[in-house]
Amino acid sequence: MYYKTDPLFPEKFMWGASSAAWQVEGAVSEDGRSPAIIDLNSRTKKPFADNSIAADHYHHYKEDVALMAECGFSSYRFSISWSRIIPASDGKVNQKGIRFYNNLINELIAHNITPIVTLYHYDMPVWVNEQLGGWHDRRTVDAFDAYVRVCFKEFGDRVKYWLSINEQNMQICYGNWLGVDKGCDDWEKDKWRINHIINLCHAKAVIACHEIVKGGKIGPVSGYVPIYPASCKPEDQIAAMNAEELTEKIWNDLYAHGEYNGFVQKLWKDQDVDPDIRPGDMELIKKAKIDYFALNCYRSNVAADCKPGDTQVDLQFVYPKFPGMYQLVANPYVKTTDWDWEIDPIAMRYMLRYVWDHYRLPMMITENGFAAHESVTADGHVHDQARIDFLRDQIFQIGQAVMDGCDVIAYNLWSFTDLLSTGNGMAKRYGLVYINTTDDDVLDLKRIKKDSFNWYSKLIRSNGRVWE
Ligand code: BG6
Repeated sequence: MYYKTDPLFPEKFMWGASSAAWQVEGAVSEDGRSPAIIDLNSRTKKPFADNSIAADHYHHYKEDVALMAECGFSSYRFSISWSRIIPASDGKVNQKGIRFYNNLINELIAHNITPIVTLYHYDMPVWVNEQLGGWHDRRTVDAFDAYVRVCFKEFGDRVKYWLSINEQNMQICYGNWLGVDKGCDDWEKDKWRINHIINLCHAKAVIACHEIVKGGKIGPVSGYVPIYPASCKPEDQIAAMNAEELTEKIWNDLYAHGEYNGFVQKLWKDQDVDPDIRPGDMELIKKAKIDYFALNCYRSNVAADCKPGDTQVDLQFVYPKFPGMYQLVANPYVKTTDWDWEIDPIAMRYMLRYVWDHYRLPMMITENGFAAHESVTADGHVHDQARIDFLRDQIFQIGQAVMDGCDVIAYNLWSFTDLLSTGNGMAKRYGLVYINTTDDDVLDLKRIKKDSFNWYSKLIRSNGRVWE
């Protein structure tokens, strides 16, 4: 529907930005933190920098929070590093880790910024992997439960918005990229056992949050890439539905309804997969009632029919084929970023409508943003008009979705400062604030407000009314 007026955002809408511990903190070996698998993984992504320094937020958190307040933030979504809180298999809580997050949370609250905390954002501690078997072993569920209970007890008096696991769906869909497939003989089958163990962890976190945190709310974080059919050919529509199931719906149905849906159960049967569901598991999952969906959305995809036996020729990473299910194809109607990500603001409205229609739960945007190669110009500024254009169009569509009747409670863009990309180091910059560092040289890590900082500040201080 086309509206006659500009969007109106709810009065208490939360505006802010997002980050993840391993991508922003640095200080990987300081104050008792032990290594995470993603640290090791990031070292394999040469020529890009690894995460040992990143944006050095660990040492700059006060300055960063002051800048957030200057911008007018009402929320900040960040993650806790598991191995900073529990660095070893003896389960002892690292008080220095607790102190860091207490300081950060207190600093945010002192500036009227609501903390939204992710418990797990890709950073499995090495000790969990080596001594418990990581996602392959059910002992990890208990270790995770112990960790999240520490977080709820230590921080739950001040943190009321929690997120369980970041992009479980992407961890399964891109297991190789994120290093989740380590130790698997047959990923296509093993991934469903791993997925089940992650579901149990998610469920434990939801249950523990409701038990421990007074007034606490919690939800999963879905990595969402809306999928359009390539044409009105009926086969393309089914292909798009298959893609939706295999990349998003299987997970979201489980979070919302506490059950594996019929599609995935059929798939397991067809592919002879045993996800190792044991007595009591589904009762636990059913008990974990989420309060909202957190959604990360950057772009969209297009799916077309793909016959069984159709073989891959090239472009497997960008346009993969899943014979008998779907194939992804290019969208001629949208432009792309420097990294070939589709620029598609309407995907945001589509996603919110879709998730609202299916689950009727409040939603918060926990990631959305524009990456570019950037540098400081001779005048000492970073002129990022392309990011402003991107954000304006995306946020406008969120407003449209609100007018459509969707219950959206927050927008946290990715990212506040530049930080380490999952695969492209510091070269892929997302921030409203430039960090003076490169993949080759750490430089002085100075914070420089980009033009988008000022633009976003005006928008959020007007609660989404001033767009220029
Ligand atoms: C999201 C992840 O999927 O995408 C973030 O939650 C990630 O951790 C972001 O950084 C952007 O991806 P990338 O590869 O550009 O860093």
